[in-house]
Amino acid sequence: MRTTAILLAAGQGTRMKSHLPKVLHRICGKPLVWYSLQAAREVTSQEPVMVIGHGADQVKQVMGDAARYAIQEQQLGTGHAVMQAADLVRGQADFVLVTYADMPLLRPETLQKLLATQQANPGPISILTVFADDPRGFGRIERHADGTVKAIVEEYVASPGQLQIKELNVGAYCFSAAWLWSGLTRIRVSPKGEYYLTDLVEIAVAEGLPVQALVMDNLQETIGINTRVHLSEAEAAMRKRINEQHMLNGVSIIDPVNTYIETGVRIGVDTVLWPNTYLQGNTSIGENCQIGPETHIQNSTIGDHCKVFKSVLEGAVLENHVDMGPFARLRKGAHLADHVHMGNFGEVKDSYLGPGVKMGHFSYIGNAQIGAETNIGAGTITCNYDGEKKHPTTIGEQVFIGSDTMLVAPLKIGNRGRTGAGAVVTKDVPEDTLVVGMPARAIRRFKKEADHDKAE
Ligand code: UD1
Ligand code: CA
Repeated sequence: MRTTAILLAAGQGTRMKSHLPKVLHRICGKPLVWYSLQAAREVTSQEPVMVIGHGADQVKQVMGDAARYAIQEQQLGTGHAVMQAADLVRGQADFVLVTYADMPLLRPETLQKLLATQQANPGPISILTVFADDPRGFGRIERHADGTVKAIVEEYVASPGQLQIKELNVGAYCFSAAWLWSGLTRIRVSPKGEYYLTDLVEIAVAEGLPVQALVMDNLQETIGINTRVHLSEAEAAMRKRINEQHMLNGVSIIDPVNTYIETGVRIGVDTVLWPNTYLQGNTSIGENCQIGPETHIQNSTIGDHCKVFKSVLEGAVLENHVDMGPFARLRKGAHLADHVHMGNFGEVKDSYLGPGVKMGHFSYIGNAQIGAETNIGAGTITCNYDGEKKHPTTIGEQVFIGSDTMLVAPLKIGNRGRTGAGAVVTKDVPEDTLVVGMPARAIRRFKKEADHDKAE
């Protein structure tokens, strides 16, 4: 049994009042259409077809090869839109699922049930419906006296009696392909000049063919987005769904309403998220971490047993047992190895801090490699930029950088080197050497154990 999904996304979405096509507006980090594609993909055996028109180039650019595309040049209605996919789908599928790309909360499980309903239906169509007090402009489901579906009546043509109907057309359909393509040709143009997909119900009924309705009990899944008010409702609902999933998987969230986790973020068990934490993009967090409060993490990888307190991370890597914050900032390419401690008011960019490095207070580290167990004193700055180019700083292991040291790159500091407070270091510092002053000069060379032995 071959199944294809067609997603309608050609409309302008006028009520969004936006330069961006509606389906590219995001909730929880992904475009609306991403969710529809994901759901379709899970229940069908073939690559979904997306019908695009308004902002087609933009949609293609963002979604790339996540779908096949059919172009609807003029938006002549949802029935007309499905017709545009005919060349790609006809003869390739036995069942065709059609949904609108502005319903990101619709679950794959629901589409699966809709497909199963149609597989058991001797007639050509199964539709998804829901009962609701607020009709939101949805089409109404008209039923015969015996309870079978008669028609979908669009709101603007509905009679006062029909407007009272509480059963609504969600906007997801499953068709038997054999009937769909010929059925589409029998849709007549509406008073508004459009060809409505919903008219297929009446057409099938008139041919004596049964239409099945699968009634949903979850109103939230049916949120279709027409305005930015709907967008915020969907965002809140999706956020709740994501947070609940993490909690069920073993993550503690102190205040789920104020914890913002984007789709696709991975979090290990026994990690605790404190309020006002944002986890975004391609981010993964290990087990047993304490994250937040007031923490912003984007496109970063964090190991196990880390503590990130009131900090901002972007494009960073933390290995295990890293402890940072409050008020620390990691920028792109910051890599903190095991047991690094980074205290308040520090910034790290494009740098590696080796195992056990301590950087307690007020420092900027850029384009640097720092060896294990090195101490970065308060106020240390890598002067890595000369106004034109960035230069590297290489600091060895067990180095002690005194408070308020300026490290003027390019610069190398050997293992166990030391700088005095306020040093402005412009020349490489050999191993086991203390430098002081401005510019810093060597005043002492530490004897190695071996030298001691010789002297005695
Ligand atoms: C549609 C349904 C309505 C249902 C509601 C649920 C029709 C005629 N009506 O109404 O019964 O209750 O959705 O949200 O189908 N589109 C195209 N090409 C077009 C027109 C629309 O691709 O020519 C796409 C839009 O981008 C959108 C979807 O189809 O994703 C639905 O179109 P929209 O104008 O929002 O339909 P509604 O009036 O909401
Ligand atoms: Ca709509």
